[in-house]
Amino acid sequence: MLRESLRELDDVVLVHSCPTAEDAIFGAELRALAAARRIHLIERFTTGRGRLTVDDIVAAVPDLAERSAWACGPAPMLDALEQHYRESGMADRLRTERFRAAPVVTGVGGSVTFTRTRTSVHTDGATSVLDAGEAAGVLMPSGCRMGVCFGCVVPLHRGAVRDLRNGDLTTAADSGDGVLVQTCVSAAAGACEIAL
Ligand code: FES
Repeated sequence: MLRESLRELDDVVLVHSCPTAEDAIFGAELRALAAARRIHLIERFTTGRGRLTVDDIVAAVPDLAERSAWACGPAPMLDALEQHYRESGMADRLRTERFRAAPVVTGVGGSVTFTRTRTSVHTDGATSVLDAGEAAGVLMPSGCRMGVCFGCVVPLHRGAVRDLRNGDLTTAADSGDGVLVQTCVSAAAGACEIAL
């Protein structure tokens, strides 16, 4: 959104929060924009400091009430932000984008086996492979969790997954297929094996 709109904007403050500097998706690009004085970038790393709160945002951006705001992130943070804007009588100044892809298709689900960690879980057709893996304790690569950044892409070893956004099936007959899937927007469609 920022890339598309920056030409028309001359006063942008971006508050970005993630565990460490290395975890920042598009971090290098954002820091370059800040160095060129195209945006004012405020980075907050949650490792050791805890999650970003509404109070943190209000403190970091003193003129927040005079700005239009776009917020994207996990549901509890967005719920708190929406409450803050509602109670401050400026709900029309906030637009939010939920961190999860909205599933429009539910498939049959099935067992997901993570071959390297030898972990297997049974999932329903609405649970992403990313969520299923994390719930089972598998260290899953991830980023935006909404199908944008491709930070969660891993090889599908065998079986089928369904894209939660449009229902498209991706299948792999053998581990040599080289098929990759975005785990944050894919759910098992029958038994499948993920190379993690
Ligand atoms: S985590 Fe960004 S596309 Fe899956």
